[in-house]
Amino acid sequence: MTIINNASLKSFNTFGIDAKAQSYCDISTIEDLSTILKNYGDVPLFILGGGSNMLLTKDIDALVLHINLKGIEVVSETKNSVVIKAMAGENWHNFVLWCLNHNFGGIENLSLIPGNIGTAPIQNIGAYGVELKDVFVSCEALKIDDQSIKTFSKSDCNFGYRESVFKQDLKGQYIITSVNLELKKTEHVLRTDYGVIKNELDTNGITKPSIQDVSNAVIAIRQSKLPDPKIIGNSGSFFKNPIISAKAFIELERNFPDVPSYKVSDETIKVPAGWLIEKAGFKGKRFNDYGVHSKQALVLVNYGNATGKEIFELAQLIQKTVKRLFNIQIETEVNII
Ligand code: EPU
Repeated sequence: MTIINNASLKSFNTFGIDAKAQSYCDISTIEDLSTILKNYGDVPLFILGGGSNMLLTKDIDALVLHINLKGIEVVSETKNSVVIKAMAGENWHNFVLWCLNHNFGGIENLSLIPGNIGTAPIQNIGAYGVELKDVFVSCEALKIDDQSIKTFSKSDCNFGYRESVFKQDLKGQYIITSVNLELKKTEHVLRTDYGVIKNELDTNGITKPSIQDVSNAVIAIRQSKLPDPKIIGNSGSFFKNPIISAKAFIELERNFPDVPSYKVSDETIKVPAGWLIEKAGFKGKRFNDYGVHSKQALVLVNYGNATGKEIFELAQLIQKTVKRLFNIQIETEVNII
C-alpha cells in the first residue's frame, strides 16, 4: 500500500480531466482499506471508484482512496437462479461479459455502462428499461468513521431513478466494498420492448434473441450514439431527464407539439433532457476543447485538454437556456466536485 503525493487523476476519471490529488492510494484489500481509515481518520478523504460519474472542477485537497477490490464469486444457486458477489473494483462491463459467458441473465441491457461495480448502486444505473435495482440483492459497505461493516438490503438502499440512500441520507458515510446480484440461469426474461433494441434485432434478422443477442444490440446502439471515454472524455448522461407535472407538460406540448415524453405516474411526466438540449441548439456545439456530443445532446465531452471548470460552465449555460426556453430546471446526473 503506497501513498503517492501530488498525483494526477487524469487516467482515473472518464472525463479525462487533469486534476491533481494531494495524495493518492490504490486500495486492493478490505484490510488495507480498514487500516488506512483507522490511521488517516483525521485526514480529509475522497473515495474514487471507476471515476465515470464525476466532473473534477478543481484539484482534490484530500487523500484519494482508489477502490480497486477485485473478485467475482457465486455465493448461492438454485436450479433457475444464481446469486453472485462482485467486489467493488470490478469493471461493470467486464462483469456483464463474465455473466453472459456463464449464461447468467438479467443485466444484458446494462452492457457497456462505464464505471465499476461499487458505484453501480450509488446511482442505481439503468438503461433500456432495466435498472440495477431489478437484480440487486444486497451490498456490503464499510462505515468510514468506525470501520464497521454493514450489509444493505434492497429496501435499505431506497433506490429511485438514478438515486439511492448513498446519494442522500448516507452521502459520504460508507464505502461500498461488494455487491450481490441475483441473475437467472434459465428461462431468461428479455427486455426488448424498448424501440431501439427491437429495431436493432430486426435489422439483424434476429427473431428469437438470446441474452447475448440483446447485449450485442445494446452495445451496437450505445456505440453508435455515445462516445467511447477512451477516445473522447465523457461521463455518459450529464443531466437527468426531468420529471415535470402533467399540468406543466400540457403547457410544454402546446408550444412544442413534437416533444417526446414518458408517463411516470398520473401526475408526472418524464421529458428527455437530450431533446430539450438539442432544441436549445447545443447539440454538436464545440467550444475550444469541450462541447456537446454530436449524436447525443445529453453527453458533454472533453476533446483533450478541457478543464472541469470549462465543462461545468457549459453545463450551467445549458441549464439556464433550457430554463429560459422551456421553464424546466434540469439537474446534473454527474457529481460536480
Ligand atoms: N433525444 C433527442 N436529442 C438527443 C438525444 C435524445 O431528441 O440529442 C430524444 C430521442 O429522440 C428520444 C429521447 O430523447 O426520443 C430519449 O433518448 P434515448 O432513448 O437516447 O435516451 P435518453 O433519455 O437520452 C436515457 C439514459 C441513458 C440510457 C438511455 C437508454 C438518463 C439520464 N439517461 O437516455 O443513460 O442509456 O436512456 O435507456 O436517464 C447514462 O446514464 O449515462 C446513460 C447513457
